[in-house]
Amino acid sequence: MVSRYENYDLSRQNTFRMKVSCRCYIEYGSIEDLKSLDFDSLPQPLLCIGEGSNLLFTGDFPGTVLRSRIDYVKYFDVGADTVPLAVGAGVNWDELVAKTCADGLWGLENLSLIPGTVGAAAVQNIGAYGVEAKDVIVGVTCFDIQKREKTAFKQEQCRYGYRDSIFKDPEYKGRYIITGVLLRLSREPKPQISYGALKGLFESGAPQSPQQVRDAVIRIRREKLPDPEELGSAGSFFKNPIVPAAQFLTISKGYESVPHYVLEGGFIKIPAAWMIEQCGFKGAVRGGAAVYAKQPLVLVNNSGEATPQEIISLEQEITDAVRARFGVQLHPEVEHI
Ligand code: EPU
Repeated sequence: MVSRYENYDLSRQNTFRMKVSCRCYIEYGSIEDLKSLDFDSLPQPLLCIGEGSNLLFTGDFPGTVLRSRIDYVKYFDVGADTVPLAVGAGVNWDELVAKTCADGLWGLENLSLIPGTVGAAAVQNIGAYGVEAKDVIVGVTCFDIQKREKTAFKQEQCRYGYRDSIFKDPEYKGRYIITGVLLRLSREPKPQISYGALKGLFESGAPQSPQQVRDAVIRIRREKLPDPEELGSAGSFFKNPIVPAAQFLTISKGYESVPHYVLEGGFIKIPAAWMIEQCGFKGAVRGGAAVYAKQPLVLVNNSGEATPQEIISLEQEITDAVRARFGVQLHPEVEHI
């Protein structure tokens, strides 16, 4: 069923809790619903959102916000070692992870407690603790607005990268609405516990179930990241920068040690959290906005009343300081609308 609202308040539709609105807001529950919409007559531009957990609205939105309520979870070959499942784009990501872990399926446990929907996870290629959504995604089904029909992308066609996919490309963004995701999970134990914080928790013995890993990830995340219900934020605000090895050596000169991850092709990923902390921003407060004291990669709506401009000013201040000190340009992970 399609629900349509005009001049809709978006404060509950973005986890940063920005007090903004949109001209038109539409919720839909199926591909048939999408077929019934006359997209050309809707206020433009169009914006598909999940739970608004990776967005920063920079002001009122003049167009139409589309929110999926497509919410099926279908398992295939339940008894097999490899279990494919088809999931609707509107399903809450962590509810899916909770279900698959409870059902003893491996694959999603490291991605526990990430806010947002399944559709948004496939756009953003969410990642945590050494696993990315692309590792379990087999394909994505979409509604093609131009042709008004269902279409599909295989995983290889989604051009997945670090927090990136083809669905972020402006050409695709305006044309395809993700309606469902096909995942492949495993009954065979496949624990991925090499990531620092997680490794420490399993030193005395490997996890016996995906639920055990999920519980550990939830514990780590709760210690470091704000609960969006209590403190508005959009998770990591910046991407971790990737620099050539030579630049990493230059940066390292002034420090005893610099945390880093070696990537393929001679590139090094440096935690932006470390750079931001070195620049003295950990816990910094600017008006209603702040840098989260336990994880400086996260900017928060500290007062509950922060304006988009206060968040953007803080972003600018941090970006300038990191560039001046390290010669590194930080890029936002959060999408500015
Ligand atoms: N660090 C500091 N100071 C701090 C916190 C961290 O120097 O106060 C340094 C430490 O060296 C630490 C390193 O930063 O080892 C990495 O920190 P953390 O493990 O918290 O991860 P992150 O790189 O800051 C990324 C993702 C998170 C994901 C975690 C765990 C990005 C942009 N962020 O953060 O994803 O949960 O790894 O895998 O890649 C998100 O995308 O919204 C998100 C939360």
